[in-house]
Amino acid sequence: MSIAGIKGMNDILPEDVATWQFVETTARSVFGAFGFNEIRVPVVEKTELFCRSIGETTDIVEKEMYTFTDRSDNSLTLRPEGTAPVMRSLIQHKLINQNPVQKLYYSGPMFRYERPQKGRYRQFHQIGAEVVGIDSPLIDAQILVMLDHFFKQVGISDVALQINSLGCPQCRPGYRDALIAFLDQRLASLCSDCQRRFRQNPLRALDCKVPGCKEATEEAPIVLDHLCAGCDDHFSAVRTHLQNLEVSFSINPRMVRGLDYYTKTTFEMITNSLGSQNAVAAGGRYDGLIQKLGGPDLPGIGFAMGVERLVLLLSELKLTNAQIDLFIAALGTEAQQHGFKLLSFLQRSGVRAEMDYTDKSLKSQMRRADKLGARYSLIIGEDELTKRSAPLRNMSGGEQIDVDIDNFEGVLSTVAPAETL
Ligand code: HAM
Repeated sequence: MSIAGIKGMNDILPEDVATWQFVETTARSVFGAFGFNEIRVPVVEKTELFCRSIGETTDIVEKEMYTFTDRSDNSLTLRPEGTAPVMRSLIQHKLINQNPVQKLYYSGPMFRYERPQKGRYRQFHQIGAEVVGIDSPLIDAQILVMLDHFFKQVGISDVALQINSLGCPQCRPGYRDALIAFLDQRLASLCSDCQRRFRQNPLRALDCKVPGCKEATEEAPIVLDHLCAGCDDHFSAVRTHLQNLEVSFSINPRMVRGLDYYTKTTFEMITNSLGSQNAVAAGGRYDGLIQKLGGPDLPGIGFAMGVERLVLLLSELKLTNAQIDLFIAALGTEAQQHGFKLLSFLQRSGVRAEMDYTDKSLKSQMRRADKLGARYSLIIGEDELTKRSAPLRNMSGGEQIDVDIDNFEGVLSTVAPAETL
């Protein structure tokens, strides 16, 4: 019996890779223009890193982490997100001493034991960006301008930016108390998780997907009514900068995010095209996180985009892998050997060339050339070997010229796409 992959962990097949690469290349180029450098961190971290950053009473930490004990009895976890590992690395390598402002991006697989459905997987991919060291609302705006620009560059228009502010350690306690008092009156309508954690982490009730909780918290107090003057000014400056830069947004006062580290500005890019998995990108400020993880007291802000969700939104694009430039059909051992030499020369010169490595009939070799969408084909048989000349055919136009089969440079200059030469 063959072995299947793991539920919720998907293969990304060659036919889809072009869209993935398009998303990745666009992110690299947009983030690069905004001054971000790439950082690569491991897929596995100490479990404690995520408990301390994401929060013990979040769904991610309580129910969704892939945690295991290694052979030395360490508790390790497959990263459910990228912010905490990037902050861990930044603290560990004292990057901030080298440069007090860090703008970093990362990409790769993340792991959460969620119920798989369209747009929600157990291994999924994020491309994220983080800025450390800047308090100014200008940087909140810059992150959002970059995100907005990225979506325009990939050609996704069916998204809307929602923003909110979650306050700071000065104003959050007042809001917490108001929310706890509100929830206390409606405990019977809340799910068992929200009942259990409402005193410790009341914000989670606003993020709960259970219909009863949604209904019961409809009239809940909103954090925006409780912001201190500093947070209020910050949020208002972010909105002004966005308006000045013509980035459209709406305020969603109920957005609390599923991770505990957020302060002040939070945001989500929402789409209507993916059912309930409607957030394509999300993030916010996390001003206390670096200190909480044992680093200096520095502010931070960032976001992560779900690549699978981006690819789903781009599925109409039907991007295809690059075409083969030349297919060499060779008949007989000697022709095959000569063809292989030419093939290797062309491949080393950067031309996408392919041939048949067995001894199939000409008809079957040409079928393969068609299937690969080759731009040109070259047929080498016994006759061609004797004449040292073979027909090179343009597969779309049908026109054919004879080429000198020993003049590799000549074949190269005819079949190479303009950008290769
Ligand atoms: P998050 O909201 O948990 O935030 O995830 C960010 C994005 O990852 C989501 O908006 C969604 O597109 C994608 N995503 C999350 N879970 C899944 C899943 N199970 N399947 C497919 N896609 C998924 C964070 O992870 C924060 N670290 C973002 C951040 C960076 N905040 C500040 N800096």
